[in-house]
Amino acid sequence: MAVGGIGNCDGVGGANQPMVTSRAAALPEGQSPKRLSKGEEIYQLTCHTCHETGAQGAPRIGNQEEWKERLKKGRKTLLKHSLEGFGLMPAKGGHTTLTKKQVTLALDFMLAKLR
Ligand code: HEC
Repeated sequence: MAVGGIGNCDGVGGANQPMVTSRAAALPEGQSPKRLSKGEEIYQLTCHTCHETGAQGAPRIGNQEEWKERLKKGRKTLLKHSLEGFGLMPAKGGHTTLTKKQVTLALDFMLAKLR
């Protein structure tokens, strides 16, 4: 599951995911990231590409097993890694125009899915 590159995230999970997810890799034309306020929206547009499918070894959303070890670092460290990058995780998921607040909201959305 750890193999695959950026843009190669489609169809990994298969069932019930007929939607093409590659569009989520980029913010829609003309849509300022500043206007994205909700964590889920930000997640869908910026983190979903990797964290939905586990591309490149990204811990999948809602997968307690894959997040268990990471959660031990604490939310503060996870936020730092979200902002600055960590291993194959690009800083801010590669969307450098996101504000700290937006990244925080997206992270909190992912963490909330683990509860
Ligand atoms: C291009 C793919 C990609 C995108 C987009 C992406 N991530 Fe990740 N993320 C990864 C990978 C791969 C890892 C695992 C890194 C490792 O352990 O080496 C990871 C790990 C993480 C971790 C765990 C870090 C740790 O300390 O263990 C957090 C938190 C995280 N991502 C948050 C986010 C957030 C928030 C977003 C959206 C703003 C996002 N990611 C977007 C690929 C991505």
